[in-house]
Amino acid sequence: MKAIQLNQFTDNFNELELVEKQMPTPGKGQVLVKMFYSAINPSDLNYIRGDYQVALKRLIWNRANQDHTPSFQPNGHHPHPELPYIPGGEGVGMVVGSGGGILANRLQGKRVSVSAGPPMGTWQEYTIVDAKKAVVVPQTIDDQQAAMLLINPLSSYGMLTDVLNVKKGRWLLQSGGASALAKMVIRMSAQLGVKTINIVRRDAQIAGLREIGADVVISLQQCSDDSVVAHIQQQVHQATAGKGVDYALDCIGGQILEAMLPCLTIQGQMLLYGTLAKADAQVFSRDLMMPCAKIHGFFAGNWLAQKSLFEKIRLMRGMKKMALSGCFNTPVESVYALEDISEALTAATTSGKSGKVLLKFC
Ligand SMILES: NC(=O)c1ccc[n+]([C@@H]2O[C@H](COP(=O)([O-])OP(=O)(O)OC[C@H]3O[C@@H](n4cnc5c(N)ncnc54)[C@H](OP(=O)(O)O)[C@@H]3O)[C@@H](O)[C@H]2O)c1
Repeated sequence: MKAIQLNQFTDNFNELELVEKQMPTPGKGQVLVKMFYSAINPSDLNYIRGDYQVALKRLIWNRANQDHTPSFQPNGHHPHPELPYIPGGEGVGMVVGSGGGILANRLQGKRVSVSAGPPMGTWQEYTIVDAKKAVVVPQTIDDQQAAMLLINPLSSYGMLTDVLNVKKGRWLLQSGGASALAKMVIRMSAQLGVKTINIVRRDAQIAGLREIGADVVISLQQCSDDSVVAHIQQQVHQATAGKGVDYALDCIGGQILEAMLPCLTIQGQMLLYGTLAKADAQVFSRDLMMPCAKIHGFFAGNWLAQKSLFEKIRLMRGMKKMALSGCFNTPVESVYALEDISEALTAATTSGKSGKVLLKFC
């Protein structure tokens, strides 16, 4: 079977290799999935460039032995993958084999959305996933939407309703406002009665976001580097009548994070969940102290791992309601064959795209 293999961390997408591999065999509690589509997400690029590896090595629990593969959790669970690695965090396919166990056996022959990851991803014709990470897809959801059903919907829903626990009538400021995830936040916020202020890079994105329910859109297109912070803060001041926002979601970092932090009102909360600008930010302690504000980090895998079975069921029920009302619908920008992985990755990282780039397996 064909697979996309990462042999070394790289920024050069031509270095990913299309290889022939043995079909993997599922162990107990796992299923073998024949893949149909897989999404290309920013998190896949973090694996490819080695960003997660660098980030994990900084953490105290990975300091003891710098020669060991760093781990996503302090107890050594979920180690970062060793190279060579087959990337791909999610996708959709058909369960064609089971390694045994009640759940895995019950999934046989079912179309499932999967979230995968170390030790192997979804960018291969057949993959293995833990049966608990395979969700049966209702008939009403087509294959392409099913390929994007887990990572962004779960993260956006979890951040809004669980971590921030947003309340009706409050203001939420978010960066990366035109991203697939941010659009989910806009739609869900509109349903929950939360008003959103959305920061984007281009004027052309304003109308589309207003259409799906954004209250305010701040475009930085006309700003010079020196005027970004003042522009964001002046617009937030105006929109909230000088009060500031109750919640802030940042996936960019750097100057944007620095601009957003002083926009928090009393007991405001900021949640950091992405680093798209790849730039450090300076945090002034008193921006948090004076408003008694909080700053949190979010990483979906580790957040979900803290949840009990009961809490997970409750989250799934809430997400289902949002899914049925169209909150998670994501346009597809383009679809590529595995052979064209380099072009697919270039398309996925091209600025101004209007939807997700998918890999198709045939
Ligand atoms: N922490 C977690 O567990 C978790 C889970 C899911 C997603 N995420 C994060 O959520 C973010 C959005 O994911 P997605 O799948 O929705 O992404 P996406 O659809 O690919 O959209 C990315 C957006 O970010 C903007 N962007 C990229 N680089 C930027 C920069 N340097 N400055 C300003 N804007 C920039 C792009 O703007 P243009 O439109 O102008 O190109 C685009 O609108 C990513 O950072 C991802 O890693 C985190």
